[in-house]
Amino acid sequence: MSKLRASTSAVHDQLDKKIMDRSPFASKEHYGLFLRYQYHLMNYVASLYQGDQLASMINNLKSRDRTEHLLADFKDLDMIQPNQAMSNAQFSASLHESLGWLYVVEGSKLGAAVLAKEAEKLGLNSEFGARFLAGSGAGRGSHWRQFMQDIEALTLDEQQEQEMLNGAQAAFKFANQLVELSYNQAPNLTADVA
Ligand code: HEM
Repeated sequence: MSKLRASTSAVHDQLDKKIMDRSPFASKEHYGLFLRYQYHLMNYVASLYQGDQLASMINNLKSRDRTEHLLADFKDLDMIQPNQAMSNAQFSASLHESLGWLYVVEGSKLGAAVLAKEAEKLGLNSEFGARFLAGSGAGRGSHWRQFMQDIEALTLDEQQEQEMLNGAQAAFKFANQLVELSYNQAPNLTADVA
């Protein structure tokens, strides 16, 4: 875990800044764009949460997927679900690269604690509009601790570990590029926000 964190801390900060520069909580419209970005990201990595091999390594893998929460947020806000064809690329990664991708997507739930507080100022919460940012029923902390324990419990050889670190890098790179792709569709905002 410490290697994952250390090797991605710079790209994380870059992504954090890139998103915050777009003022996601300035208004509900801005928040809508942020949700749309998150949707494209979750949509791209959806298969991660369905993998049987990964499920044997990470506890409660399927229930970690937040796509349903995100879709409910769109409904709450009367937003049309984004066009799924944002990226033509199909997600593809080896098993150990997938662990790195999963680290990035699961880790984003930690930052979501900070973001949920901002969303509250727009009147959004775990039951309306910001379900996606809410912690899991079990509590955000224990959810993340369980994930860390599962990663630490794996016996990886050097190559497998490197693949995992590469996967995390690739995930942050994709998440960074997706900000531009998703936000450049901004002219569609009025079409997406009903
Ligand atoms: C504006 C957006 C974001 C902010 C303000 C933010 C903020 C944070 C904060 C404060 C933490 C540390 C929380 C803690 O240690 O308790 C964190 C962790 C993390 N975030 Fe973000 N984050 C943002 C977006 C993202 C996104 C979009 C992703 C991935 C797609 C991401 C991935 C991660 C990961 C993997 C960690 C865990 C780092 C570790 O190993 O401890 N973050 N984030």
